[in-house]
Amino acid sequence: MSEEVEPALDVRGLVKTFSGVLALRGADLSIRPGEIHGLIGQNGSGKSTLIKVLSGFHAPDRGEVRVHGDVLHLPVRPADAARYRLSFMHQELSLAGGMSVLENLRLGRFKTGLGWKIHWKEESARVSQMLAEFGIDVDPHIAVDKLPQAERALVGFLRAYHQLDGERGLLVLDEPTSSLPRPAVSRLFDAMRVVRRHGTAVLFVSHRIEEVMEITDRVTVLRDGASVGTLVTRDSSEDRLVALLLGAELGRMYPTRVKASDRAVMTVNHIRGSVVRDFSLELHRGEIVGATGLVGMGHDEIPYLMYGAQPLLGGRMLIGGEDLGVPTPGRMRGHGVCLVPADRARSSGVPRATLMENVTLPALGQFFHRGYVHHGRERSFVQALLGRFDVRPAQPAALLGTLSGGNQQKTLLAKWLQLQPRVLLLHEPTQGVDIGARRDIFAVLREIAASGTAIFIASAEYEDLANICHAVAVLRSGRLVTWLRGEDLTEQRIAEQCFRPVGESGGAGPGHDEEEE
Ligand SMILES: Nc1ncnc2c1ncn2[C@@H]1O[C@H](COP(=O)(O)OP(=O)(O)OP(=O)(O)O)[C@@H](O)[C@H]1O
Ligand SMILES: [Mg+2]
Repeated sequence: MSEEVEPALDVRGLVKTFSGVLALRGADLSIRPGEIHGLIGQNGSGKSTLIKVLSGFHAPDRGEVRVHGDVLHLPVRPADAARYRLSFMHQELSLAGGMSVLENLRLGRFKTGLGWKIHWKEESARVSQMLAEFGIDVDPHIAVDKLPQAERALVGFLRAYHQLDGERGLLVLDEPTSSLPRPAVSRLFDAMRVVRRHGTAVLFVSHRIEEVMEITDRVTVLRDGASVGTLVTRDSSEDRLVALLLGAELGRMYPTRVKASDRAVMTVNHIRGSVVRDFSLELHRGEIVGATGLVGMGHDEIPYLMYGAQPLLGGRMLIGGEDLGVPTPGRMRGHGVCLVPADRARSSGVPRATLMENVTLPALGQFFHRGYVHHGRERSFVQALLGRFDVRPAQPAALLGTLSGGNQQKTLLAKWLQLQPRVLLLHEPTQGVDIGARRDIFAVLREIAASGTAIFIASAEYEDLANICHAVAVLRSGRLVTWLRGEDLTEQRIAEQCFRPVGESGGAGPGHDEEEE
């Protein structure tokens, strides 16, 4: 057989257990040279584990891996992965934040002359050329942590690609788009297409099925650690993939809306932050209100301002008619306001504590008005909560850090939802969770709204907002563009308002202030 027809990567019967938990139970995956191959599966189905076996992070119990026909010795030594032209962008993007784009891209591969002097000029020109080829317009000397999210992701991608040294190989991307807004996803896809043109294969993991449909040539579905099929994308459909992934039909994605009460719970008057210049809102019992916009337009700052997690530079907020003064997280919690930030794993979870500890960490007495919680009851309560969110494994004693990315998200969301707060502030609540879990989260949000909680969601998921919110605010340059509600509240209309050229004005929603320029 010529080398051309050998798969770029061929994984057979991969098995991996973690202290009794079967993460991979005989996974197969075959990727052709120069194809973009999707890898999908529910949270905890084994995607990252498979990838980490390939990168040498985990030693598998059993299995066989070939790269272009050559058997790769297991466990993989990281140096072998590089030699066999495998390169990785892991779920936890690992760029050196304080270092420049140039340093990140050329890390460990600076061309040195006599006396190991780095040829900065040459390096800089090389990196500029690379950035230009991928249409990335950033200064190579800027520190990576100063870059907007989209550019940071592109630099991470480029860095992984660059490790292949331009040769035909396999680029493995574990959920590169989970925290990216749509326009940034398109740019990443363009970069992936460039790489494919150069003959490099790409393994792409994502929970957004529409992305997989758009960019991949073929897709492999994992369920409970085993491959349940590889399909040619263009001969497949979203429904087919979802059914294969869940092992059942998805059913209804969005619950029916419950009518909100007209009793105001929280009033926000002309608040200002570092991006938000003027935003007002009246949040009612049982209401679900969304805020959206393009990156950096301010919508994603609002929940943090409302919670006092970012300094409020102007305006006031009232709860039940009482002026809150300068909000602080402690004071807001005291008023029954909870915030679930987007970067949950880093900002609200304790990886080395158990699920039980993580879930019951928030000051319980504050909302339970009981003073203490019975431990046996607490345990079964946590167990039930994990079950309700389908956290896997649903073991209160497991360490949070050993759960898959999406299961960590679900656990941390459960932690706040159990408190039945008066006001729940959410930022991208479904980031990184699988499609079944997304449906479950929406069902839970509806349930707690029906019980009286007011919910505010900042998100760039237009379709989700259109289907679960009573009203959605679109912001641009820190100011309200328009409120969409009723018939006007559609995914299409939200997108139009987000992308509309500056200067056109929108209409005000009934009962809400419209800010004037
Ligand atoms: N270091 C570890 N120790 C114990 N169990 C682990 C460890 N890493 C992963 N697991 C378990 O292996 C299973 C597969 O996890 P993995 O991270 O591969 O899932 P995933 O498909 O990537 O999910 P997600 O979509 O949420 O990222 C899960 O049950 C997880 O809890
Ligand atoms: Mg994963």
